[in-house]
Amino acid sequence: MSAPVHPRSAPTAPGRAIGADLPRVDARAKVTGTATYAFEYPVPHPAYLHPVQATIARGRLTRIDTTAAEALDGVRAVLWHGNAPRLRATDNAELAVLQSDQVFYRGQVVAAVIADTPEAARQAARLVRLDYDQQPHDVDLSPHRGDLYAPKDDHDQGDLEAAMAGAEHALDATYTTPMLHATPIEPHTTTAVWDDSGLTLYESTQGAHFARQELAPLLDLDPQRIQIIAPYVGGGFGSKGPLHAPTVLTVLAARAMFGRPVKLALTRRHMFDQVGYRSPTIQRIRLAANAQGRLSGIGMDATVQTARLAEFIEEATGPTESMYAAPHRHIALRAAELDAAVPGWIRGPGQCPGMFGPEVAMDELAQACGLDPIDLRLRNDPDHDPATGKPFSSRNLAACLREGARRFGWHDRDPAPGTRLVQGWYVGTGVAASRYPVVPPAGPSEATVRHLHDGHYEVHIGAADIGTGAWTVLTQIAADALGAGVQDVQVRIGDTALPEASVAGGSTGTMSWGSTIVAAARAFRDRHGTAPAPGAEASAPLPDNPATEQFAMAAFGAQFAEVHIHADTGEIRVPRLLGAFAAGRIINPRTARSQLIGGMTMGLSMALHEQSIMDPRFGHVVNCDLAEYHIATNADVADIQAHWIDEEDPHVNPLGAKGIGEIGIVGTAAAVANAAHHATGVRVRDLPLTLDHFLG
Ligand code: MOS
Repeated sequence: MSAPVHPRSAPTAPGRAIGADLPRVDARAKVTGTATYAFEYPVPHPAYLHPVQATIARGRLTRIDTTAAEALDGVRAVLWHGNAPRLRATDNAELAVLQSDQVFYRGQVVAAVIADTPEAARQAARLVRLDYDQQPHDVDLSPHRGDLYAPKDDHDQGDLEAAMAGAEHALDATYTTPMLHATPIEPHTTTAVWDDSGLTLYESTQGAHFARQELAPLLDLDPQRIQIIAPYVGGGFGSKGPLHAPTVLTVLAARAMFGRPVKLALTRRHMFDQVGYRSPTIQRIRLAANAQGRLSGIGMDATVQTARLAEFIEEATGPTESMYAAPHRHIALRAAELDAAVPGWIRGPGQCPGMFGPEVAMDELAQACGLDPIDLRLRNDPDHDPATGKPFSSRNLAACLREGARRFGWHDRDPAPGTRLVQGWYVGTGVAASRYPVVPPAGPSEATVRHLHDGHYEVHIGAADIGTGAWTVLTQIAADALGAGVQDVQVRIGDTALPEASVAGGSTGTMSWGSTIVAAARAFRDRHGTAPAPGAEASAPLPDNPATEQFAMAAFGAQFAEVHIHADTGEIRVPRLLGAFAAGRIINPRTARSQLIGGMTMGLSMALHEQSIMDPRFGHVVNCDLAEYHIATNADVADIQAHWIDEEDPHVNPLGAKGIGEIGIVGTAAAVANAAHHATGVRVRDLPLTLDHFLG
């Protein structure tokens, strides 16, 4: 087994680990460069892979000429659908790489070069000649398309049209969020090694077991013959959750090399067409309210895109279903199947884009009603989940709004927009709500506790740390569960040789792996008592939580932004961002703060910079590198604060913890857009908030 051992942590007293402000147990390994990432594993005599990508968006390959590529020094093979190893299962068409002559989107992998060096592979990939039978493609997303379909049932109650017609205040506006791509510092990488015992993958993944479970049927291989090793991952943001084609391609290439290991590191450009993206969204929002700002009607019609190759739905209507109540509601999601790459998970799927339109609309409604936007939200804070009618296990949006307002200094704000001009800059403040549901873990988990000697323990679970701090918080949870200090507990994660764990997705990691470790520690004490022998061991799965049937469960937050917009140039700066969150028990304030301000920074990036621009003539993203796809840097982030309220929720899980990995990005962009309006009086309903919106 390859999982690393970290030096002993800073000590904690027994029972005092949860809540301690501990540095990461893997910090030293990371800053000294001894933490090994997927591409770096030393394997004997590796070959390198470079994909060849389709240059049309729809059609069929008619001829492939590999002569020039194969003639290049160091090239070992060129794989294409005519010679690539066959996959056994191709029902997930996104993963059925090199299995047919069909082209579903521009950038799809249609061949691949294997060479002795990455440079030779890359050069040869450019020499592969492709001929096509090209067909017209369609990548235009519009709510007016005739072929939209409903991927889930509409949520209808009462009569929204009548509520709108009879309302004191009625708002009907359309908001858009662009296509967005994940930009982890480590692009997706795979090292694949076949031998007599099966397949070993060093993989940049959010879930080793999840990846194995997806891969095994494709190869018709017993999962026990696949080992996936991923102790360190340089950022995931969702794109490393499910398997994508490049991993399968690397596995096929290594098989074609009859035992020679093969490595693939995607380039930054590949990140824009190989590993999913956030679908653009178009959101028509309708709000009806009485003179006091009480909502009588809520409408959301959202349009998203999916791909002809495979379906992925960005559930942008999810948050509206549970956010505010009204007697008349119409919430509907529509999807268009385009000749584009398959969308996928990105931090806060559905929740993040789906809160932009509604939370800007609430700001517009507050203004129309002459109410403070916090007051409007407080007046409409429901005591039961509007989607299911269930009580909330805890809902502390109001406390977040109040606590955030106090810390931010909200209340000396002049309600009139466009009135504060300070040394050539318009100054404004804005607020928006955040929410992220407590979702069920994506898959089963099991943990094993082993007593080494004299109160020293090892805890095994195949969890993933994608930069979140899982190594550290799981050590804390295990220490308290075993009545030990963190210095006495060694956690091992990131390997399918360990007990199965759910994927790091949906902000479920700490909750599901942590609860599993608590169960395993209880099983250990039940079996071995308080004076266990060396080698004593016990395992337990994640227990069911019946409370998930009785309660609606979610984390909430409130985000505040101060925005400065230059009166002459339209330049937009965000000198202050402050979030107040209610996310249950916080296991480690240091790693939690890092997650929350990380999410907020990504939300700031979405507000100001990020957009993937699709060229409809060719069907590809034109700004497919970090020179043209701008992300927030240190210079964009000034004073950014994350706070949390003490929230006790006995229902969510034995830890009382909710997820914190994603809620930080939800609502940030709306808070910034609302602050930009307050600064200038200009209402921007389309992200990002580029400076041209504020000129003239
Ligand atoms: Mo996260 S986008 O649920 O991996």
